[in-house]
Amino acid sequence: MRDFAFDMATGPSVGRQRDEQQPLLEACNIGFTARGEQLLHNVDIAIRQGSRTLIVGPNGAGKSLLLRLLHGLLQPSDGKVLWQGNALNAKAQRAQAMVFQRPVLLRRSVFANMKFALSVRGLRGQKRSDKILSALASAGLSHLSNRPARVLSGGEQQRLAVVRALACDPELLFLDEPTANLDPASTAAIEELVRDASARGVTIVLVTHDVGQARRLGEDLVFLQDGHVAESGPAQKILTEPQSEPARAWREGRIYLGPNTQSLCDFPGSKL
Ligand SMILES: Nc1ncnc2c1ncn2[C@@H]1O[C@H](COP(=O)(O)OP(=O)(O)OP(=O)(O)O)[C@@H](O)[C@H]1O
Ligand SMILES: [Mg+2]
Repeated sequence: MRDFAFDMATGPSVGRQRDEQQPLLEACNIGFTARGEQLLHNVDIAIRQGSRTLIVGPNGAGKSLLLRLLHGLLQPSDGKVLWQGNALNAKAQRAQAMVFQRPVLLRRSVFANMKFALSVRGLRGQKRSDKILSALASAGLSHLSNRPARVLSGGEQQRLAVVRALACDPELLFLDEPTANLDPASTAAIEELVRDASARGVTIVLVTHDVGQARRLGEDLVFLQDGHVAESGPAQKILTEPQSEPARAWREGRIYLGPNTQSLCDFPGSKL
């Protein structure tokens, strides 16, 4: 893994002003090493309660890995993850939900997938059924309630994964590329679910490659490149005037080849 010296002109990481309220979730200088290779380096970010934070960066930058560490599915090799100022524990994990890059659906009906998720959270009887019906309706999935979840289309599966996670009433929802490969209508449907949840106070941490989606949903933004935070701060500012070369390249649809490389590959047709 290359160790880049970024042209960091961006100051503190997302939400890291000490006079602000306690962040909901913090990565304090976390690193992750596997098989002798350091995949994440000194990631230092703070997620504000009720905010929408976007994690952006090219393939292989470490976005999904960072989400797994923030959710406590992996332990950092260095640094620590804090939830409301304390070490992440099982109770904190239950206050979070995650929609994975490839939705994990059980080999049973749409309704039964919802039922299982809510049962794990202790919901029973009529209350559980009512919640399932209203969640499926909110995602336009009511008519698919009895269909095996694994035969749903990609967009339907993503919608199910998102409403299933939201039905668990998380304080924080991680979404890893929830609209990758979806058509504009399915993308809009998922963005609406995310916006509604955000309006209800759910903290959102969302990975995306979609510049338009970043503009529509972003409040805070963390740009990852080769396991480093290249830049972080207010999303609209970074999307308009990125300070780091990796973020500039991403916004302009170019492939970033490293700090010592003058020529950057243009990717025709992807300019903003
Ligand atoms: N548990 C792990 N053990 C070893 N290597 C890992 C592990 N998790 C991720 N990696 C490696 O870390 C790098 C970053 O992976 P990650 O899945 O986080 O990328 P990403 O930014 O999400 O990319 P994409 O945009 O393609 O989804 C990859 O090279 C991957 O192979
Ligand atoms: Mg990923």
